[in-house]
Amino acid sequence: MTRLAGPLDTLLDRTIAPGYTRLGLAVRRRLPTWPGELPRLDGRTVLVTGPTSGIGEAAATDLAVLGARVLLLARNPDKAAATQARIQRAVTAADASRTADVAVVRCDISSLASVREAVDQIEEQDEHVDVLVHNAGAMPGERTVTDEGFELAFATNVLGPFLLTALLEDRLKADAPSRVITVSSGGMYAQKLDADDLQHEDRSYSGVSVYARNKRAQVVLGELWAERLRGTGVVIHTMHPGWADTPGVEDALPGFQKLTKRVLRTPAEGADTIVWLAAATAPLSTTGGFWQDRRERPTHYAPWTREAQADRAKLWRTCAELAGVDAPVPA
Ligand SMILES: NC(=O)c1ccc[n+]([C@@H]2O[C@H](COP(=O)([O-])OP(=O)(O)OC[C@H]3O[C@@H](n4cnc5c(N)ncnc54)[C@H](OP(=O)(O)O)[C@@H]3O)[C@@H](O)[C@H]2O)c1
Repeated sequence: MTRLAGPLDTLLDRTIAPGYTRLGLAVRRRLPTWPGELPRLDGRTVLVTGPTSGIGEAAATDLAVLGARVLLLARNPDKAAATQARIQRAVTAADASRTADVAVVRCDISSLASVREAVDQIEEQDEHVDVLVHNAGAMPGERTVTDEGFELAFATNVLGPFLLTALLEDRLKADAPSRVITVSSGGMYAQKLDADDLQHEDRSYSGVSVYARNKRAQVVLGELWAERLRGTGVVIHTMHPGWADTPGVEDALPGFQKLTKRVLRTPAEGADTIVWLAAATAPLSTTGGFWQDRRERPTHYAPWTREAQADRAKLWRTCAELAGVDAPVPA
């Protein structure tokens, strides 16, 4: 069985539909090659963006159950308070002698000003950052511009997270070994990086395509951050959760959600690889990879999706310039 486990896992990956559903995870979990290790996280601090529903809340909950102090970076205080209460209940339900160590930091990730304020608060509170999880995501149906003048999907999925990593870079280095995990999407396989039109000004707007291009940009930026931080003890991972039944999917893709509901993963199943990347020992010895179901995956299947070096550099330069970050393109 061990000999067949690798090829079977790869087959699930290439056939997409079975691999992305709950079936794929159920099969992989039974393989002898499944890396089951999930150490406790007592004494560690984990920041999670977009923790108020779906995959982010599931990840934050599981990380708190493992003993981590969890900072919920959320834009909506009422939703954040409700999530905080649910996490408290989950931690106590798992172990009646424990209470969760969970706090809220206000952060609208699509706003550079809000990201700066959130980091100010984190610094004032002298928080450690052992793990940063970029999970917040958006797929607007039409082109929308933020108060700061950025296209909303790009601001939420790419620019805000870029600034957050940059502002926490020194903290992450000081707290090394530390990890940055970005929740991308399998949808990025269908898109090539378009560094010339990152804010989608030059063509008709398709929410699904824009989202997938943002998710491609997240993977490229993950590789570049990994180069910049190589040797510092800060590792960078991007991952995709497969297809999970979340409020986000129901809202943005109601037809898909209805059609596939019975085979969609639960939010916790979607969050499984985030939690493993945050807690396990193995992910500390590698950086810059793209993961699904606790295994590194290719970043391209179709040759036409491969981007030129010049476009990778342009993506980085544009993000740094727009975010006001002084950081040369990683070599
Ligand atoms: N579900 C899937 O099958 C799937 C597949 C591939 C990738 N993903 C990725 O997984 C991540 C989580 O998605 P989900 O399916 O769990 O969706 P979800 O239930 O809609 O959760 C999205 C989270 O992001 C937050 N958020 C959105 N915009 C924000 C902003 N400007 N500032 C701060 N927080 C913001 C939301 O906060 P509010 O509660 O305030 O709205 C919510 O907490 C996303 O990055 C998504 O692209 C999901």
